[in-house]
Amino acid sequence: MYSLASHHSFGFTSFAQSFLTVNSSDDLHTQLTNLTDSRYYLLGEGSNTIFTENYQGTIIKPAFMGITLEDNDTHYLVKVGAGENWHKLVMWCMQHKIYGLENLALIPGSVGAAPIQNIGAYGVEIEQFIHQVEYYDLQQKQYQSLRAIDCEFGYRDSVFKTRLAGKVMITSVTLVIPKKWKGVTHYGELKQLSTPSATDIFNKVVEVRQSKLPDPAKIGNAGSFFKNPIITKALFEQLQRTWAAIPSYPVNTDKVKIPAAWLIDQLGFKGRRVGGIGCHPNHALVLTNDGSGTGEQLLELARDIQLAVSQEFSIRLENEVRLIGNKGPVFL
Ligand code: EPU
Repeated sequence: MYSLASHHSFGFTSFAQSFLTVNSSDDLHTQLTNLTDSRYYLLGEGSNTIFTENYQGTIIKPAFMGITLEDNDTHYLVKVGAGENWHKLVMWCMQHKIYGLENLALIPGSVGAAPIQNIGAYGVEIEQFIHQVEYYDLQQKQYQSLRAIDCEFGYRDSVFKTRLAGKVMITSVTLVIPKKWKGVTHYGELKQLSTPSATDIFNKVVEVRQSKLPDPAKIGNAGSFFKNPIITKALFEQLQRTWAAIPSYPVNTDKVKIPAAWLIDQLGFKGRRVGGIGCHPNHALVLTNDGSGTGEQLLELARDIQLAVSQEFSIRLENEVRLIGNKGPVFL
């Protein structure tokens, strides 16, 4: 049995049957050919996965490292190993005066995980910088790549969560970043900045995140626990009659996105606890583990929140984090 405590940021004391770190393409061929366990789970830095039980299978961790840089007159092309840390990449770009990723500063996790859930924050999503994603197809046993257009990116979604889920191991991600920089400052606290530089935006994002979101190194958490739900305008207008202040972001002509944190907050969940699991007092979308929490307690609190939101707002919240039980995904 292999302890997963240091491999996921929620901090449950879960175990897996075995753990395989893959560092290079040579490793990959031999190690995966020798893999006898048919049940496996691909894990990055474990900042968006919660092991609610002991996992009866093998954890495979892609640890491909390295950054290569090319450029032409208009763009930088940055190819990054899947095992690199996302925030370190953002800092590397800032140091090399390659600007554009600053809104995505301090997002926990690995580069290889970034396209899977199309990480996003403060008005920017990674999909706008993806040139292509390189991966190893675990069934066909061959290397392939997908251009951004074929990654089927959506809000916290991509083909790697749907059709290709669990079937491929992302080995590297190639980003294309325009040399002509234009800062994105339309979201939340960034609006206060007037004619900011990329460094000003980076610093502000770091400051806001550190003030609102708990540091996983200090208290177990996996960032936003639920996705922000996308609902019809008809339902939104109906809700506005009772909840005049309900916030929304436009999605298209028929749909709007609602901050799940606001819904949860209205129902008084901030600070609520089930054993060692809590709804964070500063941010209602973040569930935390004080170190003594259990998978059962987490599922209980998450289901309580889901039920209360559904009863009050007729909105079904979906988990944004991946919940893994003893045989694989757990559904709320
Ligand atoms: N709000 C509340 N109560 C709270 C917190 C927020 O009412 O306790 C309301 C406020 O009205 C606020 C709104 O919710 O304006 C949105 O809050 P926030 O700006 O913190 O963003 P979020 O929608 O909760 C999303 C992402 C975050 C990302 C931030 C910033 C999702 C699921 N989460 O959160 O991503 O950092 O926007 O762009 O889309 C993550 O994915 O793990 C993550 C942290």
